[in-house]
Amino acid sequence: NDELFKNVIAHAKEYGFVFPSSEIYDGLSAVYDYGQLGAELKNNIKTYWWKAMVQLHENIVGIDSAIFMHPKIWKASGHVDGFNDPMIDNKDSKKRYRADQLIEDKIARYEKDGKTDKASKLQTALDDALNADDLGRLKLIIEEHDIVCPISGTKNWTEVRQFNLMFSTQMGAMADGSEEVYLRPETAQGIFVNFLNVQKTGRMKIPFGIAQIGKAFRNEVIARQFIMRMREFEQMEMQFFVRPGTELEWYKRWKETRLKWHLALKPDPAKYRYHDHVKLAHYANAAVDIEYEFPFGFKEVEGIHSRTDFDLSQHQQFSGKKMQYFDPEINQNYIPYVIETSIGLDRMFLTTLCNAYEEEDLSTAEKQDSRSVLRLHPVLAPIKAAIFPLTKKDGLPEKAREVMQLLKMDYNLIYEEKDAIGKRYRRQDAVGTPICITVDHQSLQDDTVTIRHRDTMEQERIAIHDLASFLEGIVGW
Ligand code: GAP
Repeated sequence: NDELFKNVIAHAKEYGFVFPSSEIYDGLSAVYDYGQLGAELKNNIKTYWWKAMVQLHENIVGIDSAIFMHPKIWKASGHVDGFNDPMIDNKDSKKRYRADQLIEDKIARYEKDGKTDKASKLQTALDDALNADDLGRLKLIIEEHDIVCPISGTKNWTEVRQFNLMFSTQMGAMADGSEEVYLRPETAQGIFVNFLNVQKTGRMKIPFGIAQIGKAFRNEVIARQFIMRMREFEQMEMQFFVRPGTELEWYKRWKETRLKWHLALKPDPAKYRYHDHVKLAHYANAAVDIEYEFPFGFKEVEGIHSRTDFDLSQHQQFSGKKMQYFDPEINQNYIPYVIETSIGLDRMFLTTLCNAYEEEDLSTAEKQDSRSVLRLHPVLAPIKAAIFPLTKKDGLPEKAREVMQLLKMDYNLIYEEKDAIGKRYRRQDAVGTPICITVDHQSLQDDTVTIRHRDTMEQERIAIHDLASFLEGIVGW
């Protein structure tokens, strides 16, 4: 599975999906750039989410709030005081680690060695220490279990300290007059503080939702597993405002709706599961993760949280502005309760790649053969169709360009005339293009083309004037 994950990462780089940021300067830790195909795939995932959440729900609207927000917002939300990871340094290697992660790794090692009893005891000890915010206890656990630095191999640890995950910078031209502001660590707060703006101007009636896609920033202490945990990433969040007392009903609905969204892309359903939070954050009265089985195990892709009226109440208190809604049906003012759905776009991207990537063995008795294929759902495919003239002469390129002209306004296409046709097909398989359209000599006579399907590798002949509706049937929403 390590091998599989390495292949996915290498594939993503080789075909222009994801590059390490600032690569010619040896990269920047936990920051990545999306290449020409990655940007397309990411946009398609965003569109799929936006259509499902905003377009298909009459009572959900979308906004785009700023990354910079008033610093008091992060005080009100609890991020200034509570958005921390426990951190420890090794004095020999001078490397910094997340204390809880070091312990998690030890638990995984116990499990691997069949010491399940030890593993579960250590897990309980870790959970207790984290719940009690007991940093001294974390240090003791690290000592008691002989946890060594993966780099230096020594146990020469500092104390455990809290490390706030928010990035800060200065706002204002002059250093004197400037004020510390944060890069938002989640997009949700931009929704909360605009709750009444949207409700009033959009004449929204409860229950209703506000959705948003945007960048978030977290100074993660450890970065690992490619685009799983980044310092700059994107979230797709939706806050659904409901009447107090109805929140658990809505929570249940959103929990189901969101899993259906993932499964509608036709992945292997066995790779998805719910992970209910037993221990809840102080503001939540129910929370669940939707987990996906990555090559390195089941991990959270999306969270659905019943956040009560915590955030709006906090903002009412800190801003001094009323955050209430007048409910005409029951003739009452109240602060709505909120169900949140929050998915990491980059994690969804990784899920999509892992689901799609396959090294397919095509060997026959006569010869060995294989291909790399991305079995992306057609609506997510970065390139919808590739257009090939069979050869570079006899007017075939011109005819192929004509076909391209018919379709390019509606679909992202690619034109290629270099290399043998078989090689061109394989290149498109590797980037997930659902169909290839080949123009040959017969096309000049009867205005038909050959369609070659990515998944089955089967071919069929269709009329050029049927191409648009044919393509719509395959890659249309
Ligand atoms: N507003 C709620 C919130 O932000 P979260 O569980 O901290 O909740 C939601 O984050 C989602 O954002 C996660 O399920 C994950 O997909 C994504 N996410 C969080 N931190 C991330 C990181 N460092 N890199 C990539 N994605 C991340």
